[in-house]
Parts: sequence; structure tokens; C-alpha cells
Amino acid sequence: MSMVNDVETVLISETQIQERIVDLAAEMNAIYTDADLPVLICILKGAFMFLADLTRHLAFRHEIDFMEISSYGRGTTSSGAVRILLDLAADVQGRNIVVVEDIVDTGNTLTYILRNFAARKPASVRVATLLSKPSRRQIEVPIDFVGFEVPDEFVIGYGLDFAEQYRNLPFIGALKSEVYQQP
Ligand code: IMP
Repeated sequence: MSMVNDVETVLISETQIQERIVDLAAEMNAIYTDADLPVLICILKGAFMFLADLTRHLAFRHEIDFMEISSYGRGTTSSGAVRILLDLAADVQGRNIVVVEDIVDTGNTLTYILRNFAARKPASVRVATLLSKPSRRQIEVPIDFVGFEVPDEFVIGYGLDFAEQYRNLPFIGALKSEVYQQP
């Protein structure tokens, strides 16, 4: 069976994503200059596609770096326990950081990341997320750039996975409940 058959609905089309990324890049282009030389920190794995498309529309000099945070495994809800699987290569002390996330759900992961970065004494920290599920928030987290707000459904595609699959879909879709309710 094709992966696409596991998709209940397309929530955000490929075109909508690409158009919104151009807008988000314009918001960033209005804030940052070459002199700021920010480091965009892609939170793996989910944000890899978002970072790749976003960075191509940025007009200011910047660097990119990667950090991998533990995911849910096969589940669909956050345990609140977060671990660093891959740490930054760059020393971000005194640097301007932009955290690039795929989705902010409960807010637990981002809270952990922001606390962890604060200890490294960056000059500034902003957050860009492609998606936000505000109805699920357990902890308020500051977000500077939001692509789309999504309803309380498990979403996949455009970098986001269920059990490591579906990341390659070029759109954001909702997964059929029978897919994740399988024993
Ligand atoms: P939070 O800690 O609950 O905010 O969850 C953040 C992380 O959980 C995200 O970076 C995603 O990797 C993952 N996540 C949350 N909701 C979804 C979803 O609907 N689909 C896929 N991954 C999700």
C-alpha cells in the first residue's frame, strides 16, 4: 500500500508551505543583517526540510548547525523527557541564534532546548517553527516566527514522521487513526 493511502487529509499543501516560507523569510530578512551573522539551529530530524527551504530565501549572511533531540519513538504523545542525541558543532556563546523547529506541540521539547541554549550564553535567541498546535500547549513558550497553526491531530509529512516514516511527503497531512492505533 502506498504511503499516500495512510493520509486522511492534506491539511497544508506543498504550494501553501512554499508560499508561507517566503513570507517567513521576509520577516527574518527585515530583522537580521549580515553583521548579526545568526546561527540557524535545525532541530533534527523533523525540521530538516523546513530549514533547507527557508535558508534559500534568506538574504542575510548566516550559518547553520544541527541538534538532534530524542523523539517519541512509536508513540504520538510527548513523554516530557527529552534527551540530546546530537549536540551543536558550533560554540554559540555571544552568537545570535534562531532555533528552527518543525512543530511546537506541548512545548516541552522547546522549553528544554531554550533552557539548554540559555546556559551557553548566546547574544539573542529567536524561535521559528513551521507548525504550532496551540490547543495542546502545556508550557507557554515564546515563538517569534510561526508558519501555520494546526488542529489537535497527529500530522506527518514535510519532515514530520510517524515511526520514522512519511518525512518525504511534500505536504502536511493528517494520518489515518487506524495507522497509529495498530497494535
Ligand atoms: P512537544 O515537546 O510536545 O512540543 O513536541 C515537539 C516534538 O514532537 C516535535 O519537534 C516533533 O518532533 C514531535 N511532534 C509533536 N507533534 C507531532 C505531530 O503531530 N506529528 C509529528 N511529530 C510531532
